Amino acid sequence: MIRFNSVRKTFGAKQVLDGFTLDIPDGQTTVLLGYSGTGKSVALKHIVGLLEPDEGSVEVDGRIVHEMSRGELTAMRASIGYVFQFSALFDSLSVADNISLGLREQRLPEDQIVRRVAASLERVGLADQGTRFPAELSGGMRKRVGIARAIALEPRYILYDEPTTGLDPVTSAVIDELMVRNKRELGVTGVVVTHDMRSAFAVADRIAMLYQGRVHLVGTVDEIRRTEDPLVRQFIEGRP
Ligand SMILES: Nc1ncnc2c1ncn2[C@@H]1O[C@H](COP(=O)(O)OP(=O)(O)OP(=O)(O)O)[C@@H](O)[C@H]1O
Ligand SMILES: [Mg+2]
Repeated sequence: MIRFNSVRKTFGAKQVLDGFTLDIPDGQTTVLLGYSGTGKSVALKHIVGLLEPDEGSVEVDGRIVHEMSRGELTAMRASIGYVFQFSALFDSLSVADNISLGLREQRLPEDQIVRRVAASLERVGLADQGTRFPAELSGGMRKRVGIARAIALEPRYILYDEPTTGLDPVTSAVIDELMVRNKRELGVTGVVVTHDMRSAFAVADRIAMLYQGRVHLVGTVDEIRRTEDPLVRQFIEGRP
Protein backbone atom coordinates (compact mmCIF):
# COMPACT_ATOMS: atom_id res chain seq x y z
CA MET A 1 0.00 0.00 0.00
CA ILE A 2 1.09 3.55 -0.74
CA ARG A 3 0.30 6.24 1.75
CA PHE A 4 0.84 10.00 1.74
CA ASN A 5 0.97 11.45 5.26
CA SER A 6 0.51 15.23 5.42
CA VAL A 7 3.10 15.88 2.73
CA ARG A 8 4.29 19.44 2.30
CA LYS A 9 6.48 20.46 -0.59
CA THR A 10 7.54 23.92 -1.67
CA PHE A 11 9.68 25.03 -4.59
CA GLY A 12 11.11 28.43 -3.74
CA ALA A 13 8.17 30.52 -2.61
CA LYS A 14 5.64 28.21 -4.23
CA GLN A 15 3.76 25.86 -1.90
CA VAL A 16 2.80 22.91 -4.08
CA LEU A 17 1.75 20.19 -1.65
CA ASP A 18 0.29 21.48 1.57
CA GLY A 19 -0.80 18.68 3.85
CA PHE A 20 -1.42 16.10 1.13
CA THR A 21 -2.82 12.93 2.72
CA LEU A 22 -4.06 9.96 0.71
CA ASP A 23 -4.15 6.17 1.05
CA ILE A 24 -3.81 4.14 -2.10
CA PRO A 25 -5.28 0.71 -1.42
CA ASP A 26 -3.80 -2.39 -3.02
CA GLY A 27 -5.42 -4.05 -5.98
CA GLN A 28 -7.35 -0.97 -7.03
CA THR A 29 -6.88 1.93 -9.37
CA THR A 30 -6.84 5.32 -7.71
CA VAL A 31 -7.17 8.36 -9.94
CA LEU A 32 -5.70 11.67 -8.89
CA LEU A 33 -7.51 14.56 -10.55
CA GLY A 34 -6.60 18.18 -10.51
CA TYR A 35 -5.98 21.32 -12.49
CA SER A 36 -2.74 21.81 -14.35
CA GLY A 37 0.06 22.80 -12.03
CA THR A 38 -1.61 21.59 -8.81
CA GLY A 39 1.16 19.12 -8.03
CA LYS A 40 -0.07 15.80 -9.40
CA SER A 41 3.24 14.90 -11.02
CA VAL A 42 5.07 16.19 -7.95
CA ALA A 43 2.99 13.82 -5.80
CA LEU A 44 3.88 10.81 -8.00
CA LYS A 45 7.58 11.66 -7.89
CA HIS A 46 7.46 11.48 -4.10
CA ILE A 47 6.36 7.84 -4.27
CA VAL A 48 9.56 6.69 -5.95
CA GLY A 49 11.78 9.11 -4.06
CA LEU A 50 12.55 11.39 -7.01
CA LEU A 51 11.40 14.19 -4.68
CA GLU A 52 11.52 14.36 -0.91
CA PRO A 53 8.86 15.99 1.27
CA ASP A 54 9.74 19.13 3.24
CA GLU A 55 7.40 17.79 5.91
CA GLY A 56 5.34 14.64 6.26
CA SER A 57 6.16 11.36 4.57
CA VAL A 58 5.27 8.89 1.88
CA GLU A 59 5.11 5.20 2.73
CA VAL A 60 5.37 2.28 0.38
CA ASP A 61 4.45 -1.04 1.99
CA GLY A 62 4.82 0.46 5.45
CA ARG A 63 8.29 1.91 4.89
CA ILE A 64 8.97 5.62 4.74
CA VAL A 65 10.51 6.39 1.36
CA HIS A 66 12.83 9.19 2.45
CA GLU A 67 14.26 6.98 5.21
CA MET A 68 15.09 4.08 2.91
CA SER A 69 18.69 3.05 2.36
CA ARG A 70 20.01 3.04 -1.18
CA GLY A 71 19.41 -0.70 -1.42
CA GLU A 72 15.86 -0.44 -0.10
CA LEU A 73 15.14 2.38 -2.53
CA THR A 74 16.38 0.29 -5.44
CA ALA A 75 14.25 -2.67 -4.36
CA MET A 76 11.20 -0.47 -3.88
CA ARG A 77 11.67 1.14 -7.32
CA ALA A 78 11.85 -2.30 -8.89
CA SER A 79 8.30 -2.94 -7.65
CA ILE A 80 6.93 0.24 -9.23
CA GLY A 81 6.42 0.89 -12.92
CA TYR A 82 6.37 4.56 -13.83
CA VAL A 83 4.68 5.72 -17.01
CA PHE A 84 6.00 9.24 -17.40
CA GLN A 85 3.92 12.18 -18.58
CA PHE A 86 5.99 12.64 -21.72
CA SER A 87 6.78 8.93 -22.23
CA ALA A 88 10.49 9.59 -21.52
CA LEU A 89 11.74 7.09 -24.07
CA PHE A 90 15.35 7.24 -25.21
CA ASP A 91 15.29 8.31 -28.87
CA SER A 92 18.57 6.59 -29.64
CA LEU A 93 17.35 3.20 -28.40
CA SER A 94 14.94 0.83 -30.10
CA VAL A 95 11.61 0.12 -28.48
CA ALA A 96 12.89 -3.24 -27.21
CA ASP A 97 16.05 -1.67 -25.77
CA ASN A 98 14.00 1.04 -24.06
CA ILE A 99 11.96 -1.67 -22.37
CA SER A 100 15.06 -3.71 -21.50
CA LEU A 101 16.85 -0.92 -19.66
CA GLY A 102 15.14 -1.37 -16.30
CA LEU A 103 15.45 -5.15 -16.56
CA ARG A 104 19.19 -4.93 -17.21
CA GLU A 105 19.47 -2.73 -14.12
CA GLN A 106 17.90 -5.57 -12.18
CA ARG A 107 20.52 -7.89 -13.69
CA LEU A 108 17.99 -10.33 -15.05
CA PRO A 109 19.39 -13.03 -17.33
CA GLU A 110 19.30 -12.05 -21.00
CA ASP A 111 16.86 -14.79 -22.07
CA GLN A 112 14.44 -13.66 -19.41
CA ILE A 113 14.77 -10.06 -20.57
CA VAL A 114 13.97 -11.10 -24.14
CA ARG A 115 10.91 -13.01 -22.93
CA ARG A 116 9.64 -10.17 -20.79
CA VAL A 117 10.11 -7.59 -23.55
CA ALA A 118 8.19 -9.76 -26.00
CA ALA A 119 5.39 -10.47 -23.52
CA SER A 120 4.95 -6.83 -22.55
CA LEU A 121 4.94 -5.63 -26.18
CA GLU A 122 2.38 -8.29 -26.97
CA ARG A 123 0.23 -7.16 -24.05
CA VAL A 124 0.10 -3.57 -25.33
CA GLY A 125 -0.55 -4.66 -28.91
CA LEU A 126 2.88 -3.78 -30.29
CA ALA A 127 4.26 -7.29 -30.73
CA ASP A 128 6.06 -6.51 -33.97
CA GLN A 129 7.39 -3.04 -33.09
CA GLY A 130 10.39 -3.90 -30.93
CA THR A 131 13.00 -2.95 -33.52
CA ARG A 132 11.51 0.45 -34.30
CA PHE A 133 12.69 3.71 -32.77
CA PRO A 134 10.54 6.10 -30.72
CA ALA A 135 10.68 8.80 -33.43
CA GLU A 136 8.94 6.39 -35.81
CA LEU A 137 5.95 5.92 -33.51
CA SER A 138 2.75 7.89 -33.02
CA GLY A 139 2.02 9.51 -29.67
CA GLY A 140 -0.39 6.74 -28.75
CA MET A 141 2.17 4.06 -29.61
CA ARG A 142 4.79 5.83 -27.51
CA LYS A 143 2.40 5.83 -24.57
CA ARG A 144 1.89 2.11 -25.06
CA VAL A 145 5.65 1.54 -25.13
CA GLY A 146 5.83 3.46 -21.85
CA ILE A 147 3.22 1.11 -20.42
CA ALA A 148 5.05 -1.94 -21.82
CA ARG A 149 8.23 -0.74 -20.13
CA ALA A 150 6.37 -0.50 -16.83
CA ILE A 151 4.70 -3.91 -17.19
CA ALA A 152 7.99 -5.60 -18.08
CA LEU A 153 9.18 -4.98 -14.52
CA GLU A 154 6.30 -7.16 -13.32
CA PRO A 155 5.57 -4.45 -10.79
CA ARG A 156 3.08 -4.42 -7.96
CA TYR A 157 2.34 -0.78 -8.65
CA ILE A 158 2.12 1.27 -11.80
CA LEU A 159 2.06 5.06 -11.69
CA TYR A 160 0.54 6.53 -14.84
CA ASP A 161 1.14 10.25 -15.36
CA GLU A 162 -1.39 11.64 -17.86
CA PRO A 163 -1.55 8.44 -19.87
CA THR A 164 -4.24 9.69 -22.27
CA THR A 165 -3.46 13.38 -22.51
CA GLY A 166 -3.15 14.53 -26.11
CA LEU A 167 -4.61 11.35 -27.59
CA ASP A 168 -7.77 10.99 -29.67
CA PRO A 169 -10.77 9.40 -27.91
CA VAL A 170 -10.35 5.98 -29.53
CA THR A 171 -6.64 5.74 -28.74
CA SER A 172 -7.41 6.97 -25.22
CA ALA A 173 -9.93 4.18 -24.82
CA VAL A 174 -7.27 1.66 -25.85
CA ILE A 175 -4.97 3.01 -23.13
CA ASP A 176 -7.81 2.94 -20.59
CA GLU A 177 -8.49 -0.69 -21.47
CA LEU A 178 -4.81 -1.51 -20.95
CA MET A 179 -4.86 0.05 -17.50
CA VAL A 180 -7.98 -1.89 -16.56
CA ARG A 181 -6.40 -5.15 -17.80
CA ASN A 182 -3.19 -4.47 -15.89
CA LYS A 183 -5.26 -4.34 -12.76
CA ARG A 184 -7.55 -7.24 -13.56
CA GLU A 185 -5.12 -9.66 -15.15
CA LEU A 186 -1.83 -8.72 -13.48
CA GLY A 187 -3.19 -7.55 -10.13
CA VAL A 188 -1.41 -4.22 -10.45
CA THR A 189 -2.27 -1.41 -8.05
CA GLY A 190 -2.62 1.69 -10.22
CA VAL A 191 -2.23 5.37 -9.56
CA VAL A 192 -3.44 7.44 -12.49
CA VAL A 193 -2.90 11.16 -12.73
CA THR A 194 -5.18 12.77 -15.26
CA HIS A 195 -7.49 15.61 -16.08
CA ASP A 196 -9.33 13.48 -18.63
CA MET A 197 -12.67 12.83 -16.90
CA ARG A 198 -13.76 10.21 -19.40
CA SER A 199 -10.59 8.24 -18.71
CA ALA A 200 -10.92 8.75 -14.95
CA PHE A 201 -14.40 7.26 -14.90
CA ALA A 202 -13.31 4.39 -17.18
CA VAL A 203 -10.40 3.20 -15.05
CA ALA A 204 -10.93 4.34 -11.47
CA ASP A 205 -12.06 2.46 -8.42
CA ARG A 206 -11.50 5.59 -6.40
CA ILE A 207 -11.01 9.19 -7.40
CA ALA A 208 -9.24 11.85 -5.36
CA MET A 209 -9.32 15.48 -6.32
CA LEU A 210 -6.23 17.48 -5.52
CA TYR A 211 -6.82 21.15 -4.90
CA GLN A 212 -4.54 23.76 -3.38
CA GLY A 213 -2.02 21.19 -2.32
CA ARG A 214 -4.28 18.74 -0.59
CA VAL A 215 -7.02 16.20 -1.27
CA HIS A 216 -10.23 18.14 -1.56
CA LEU A 217 -12.47 15.10 -1.92
CA VAL A 218 -11.98 11.37 -2.35
CA GLY A 219 -14.60 8.77 -3.16
CA THR A 220 -15.67 5.89 -5.33
CA VAL A 221 -16.50 6.57 -8.96
CA ASP A 222 -20.20 6.59 -8.09
CA GLU A 223 -19.70 8.97 -5.19
CA ILE A 224 -17.71 11.35 -7.35
CA ARG A 225 -20.24 11.14 -10.20
CA ARG A 226 -23.05 12.02 -7.81
CA THR A 227 -21.28 14.55 -5.64
CA GLU A 228 -22.70 18.01 -5.39
CA ASP A 229 -19.41 19.45 -4.24
CA PRO A 230 -19.18 22.60 -6.38
CA LEU A 231 -15.45 22.36 -7.02
CA VAL A 232 -15.64 18.77 -8.23
CA ARG A 233 -18.75 19.45 -10.32
CA GLN A 234 -17.05 22.40 -11.96
CA PHE A 235 -14.03 20.24 -12.77
CA ILE A 236 -16.11 17.31 -14.09
CA GLU A 237 -18.24 19.55 -16.23
CA GLY A 238 -15.31 21.63 -17.40
CA ARG A 239 -16.91 24.92 -16.50
CA PRO A 240 -14.69 28.02 -16.21
N1 LIG B 1 11.60 20.28 -9.80
C1 LIG B 1 10.87 21.38 -9.69
N2 LIG B 1 11.43 22.57 -9.39
C2 LIG B 1 10.68 23.67 -9.24
N3 LIG B 1 9.33 23.71 -9.39
C3 LIG B 1 8.73 22.57 -9.70
C4 LIG B 1 9.45 21.34 -9.86
N4 LIG B 1 8.57 20.37 -10.15
C5 LIG B 1 7.35 20.95 -10.17
N5 LIG B 1 7.44 22.26 -9.89
C6 LIG B 1 6.31 23.19 -9.80
O1 LIG B 1 5.32 22.58 -9.00
C7 LIG B 1 4.01 22.89 -9.49
C8 LIG B 1 3.25 21.60 -9.70
O2 LIG B 1 3.84 20.91 -10.79
P1 LIG B 1 3.29 19.51 -11.30
O3 LIG B 1 4.17 19.15 -12.45
O4 LIG B 1 3.17 18.55 -10.20
O5 LIG B 1 1.84 19.89 -11.82
P2 LIG B 1 0.72 18.92 -12.41
O6 LIG B 1 -0.43 18.95 -11.46
O7 LIG B 1 1.32 17.61 -12.73
O8 LIG B 1 0.31 19.71 -13.72
P3 LIG B 1 -0.01 19.18 -15.23
O9 LIG B 1 -1.43 18.71 -15.19
O10 LIG B 1 0.13 20.41 -16.07
O11 LIG B 1 0.98 18.11 -15.56
C9 LIG B 1 4.21 23.72 -10.74
O12 LIG B 1 4.07 25.07 -10.38
C10 LIG B 1 5.63 23.42 -11.14
O13 LIG B 1 6.21 24.51 -11.80
MG1 LIG C 1 1.87 16.69 -14.44
